[in-house]
Amino acid sequence: MNYNKKTVLDVDVHGKKVLLRCDFNVPQDKATGAITSDKRIVAALPTIRYLLENGAAVIACSHLGKPSATFEAYAKKQAEKGKEAKREDWEKSLKQLSLAPVAVRLSELLGQEVLFANDVVGEDAQAKAKALQPGQILLLENTRFEKGETKNDPELSRQLAALGELFVSDAFGSVHRAHASTVGVAAYLPAVSGFLVAKELEVMGKALDDPRRPFVSVLGGAKVGDKIGVISNLLDRADTIIIGGGMAYTFLAAQGGNIGKSLCENDRLDFAREMLAKAKEKGVQLLLPTDTVAAAEFSADAAPVVVESMNIGDDLMGMDIGPKTTQTFCDAVVGAGTVVWNGPMGVFEFPAFAKGTEAMAKAMAESGAVTIVGGGDSAAAVEQLGFADQMTHISTGGGASLEFLEGKELPGVACLQDR
Ligand code: 3PG
Repeated sequence: MNYNKKTVLDVDVHGKKVLLRCDFNVPQDKATGAITSDKRIVAALPTIRYLLENGAAVIACSHLGKPSATFEAYAKKQAEKGKEAKREDWEKSLKQLSLAPVAVRLSELLGQEVLFANDVVGEDAQAKAKALQPGQILLLENTRFEKGETKNDPELSRQLAALGELFVSDAFGSVHRAHASTVGVAAYLPAVSGFLVAKELEVMGKALDDPRRPFVSVLGGAKVGDKIGVISNLLDRADTIIIGGGMAYTFLAAQGGNIGKSLCENDRLDFAREMLAKAKEKGVQLLLPTDTVAAAEFSADAAPVVVESMNIGDDLMGMDIGPKTTQTFCDAVVGAGTVVWNGPMGVFEFPAFAKGTEAMAKAMAESGAVTIVGGGDSAAAVEQLGFADQMTHISTGGGASLEFLEGKELPGVACLQDR
């Protein structure tokens, strides 16, 4: 995939109405709907500020959650859960996914008024977009309230595009989605990236295509099934692949280890064997745990015991990498030129089983290597453990960064103009 895409710096934004796709899919408190982390709003600020300071009028848009755009779609989903669908419940669910609270938070962060349209391409959006002046910003309602959004409907794309004169994509978390507001609009407007997408492409693209070597990839998390594409792609690029977390046990079982009650994906054993053979054939060092911190049950206060990874014992399950393994994994990271990390080394949510993940974060922070943390759980772990500021880059995408590491073409990037 070509990552060398035009950015806002390559076009004249002065006096233009800019349709800006952000990823304002923020986590919310289930009961109150309050925004529990504004990280994604903060991440959008540099591009928004640049556009406003350079004389553009910004029409920002985003999805939030996975609303059902029609009552029929809502009723179908409820029926699948064996539940009756009530119209007032559907309306309530839409209200909970309104972007109005995001407009309020964005306005506080920007220190200026953020106008809000209570529809996406309807009368309110059209009137407010039309009246918008350079230096002003308008946020549209949740794009997924339009049923054409997730279908990448050309008519919705055309209507959205008609609100502006230039499309700027800064929603890295959504570039793996071919939706009207992420891809469709680019058929009707010149399309470039914002600073956030540009940085993700530059840092992760370089790590994949031209990494400072040795290139060490650290993979963890619960399931091999979630990382098949990533492991396959990185085997062609990395010098060392470290496998920890729940997914390591399937690799250990594939080699005949007794992994006790640890997570094991029986349908991935052949894949694991294939990857072990491929690593050998390519001369890629593939490191697996040799010792494991195990426990009798999956609980925060379960007593940790250190055991051999190939012989965990029938009544125990692996919860974290052991001290010897931690040392080996960290040594590999300390000597690296580039480290890409995706997935925690153990159950880091439980302090007794967070040591491996913590040591890995610390080793990366102190390594002097180009350090990249894939989104989702590993980003949360690095933040929770206080190492976020010491990494080269923490991706803002969950699914998007995973697909990036899989080497897949991202539709929301492919649609942008090449440099
Ligand atoms: C994310 O949270 O990863 C992005 O906002 C994409 O959300 P989606 O999975 O609902 O498309």
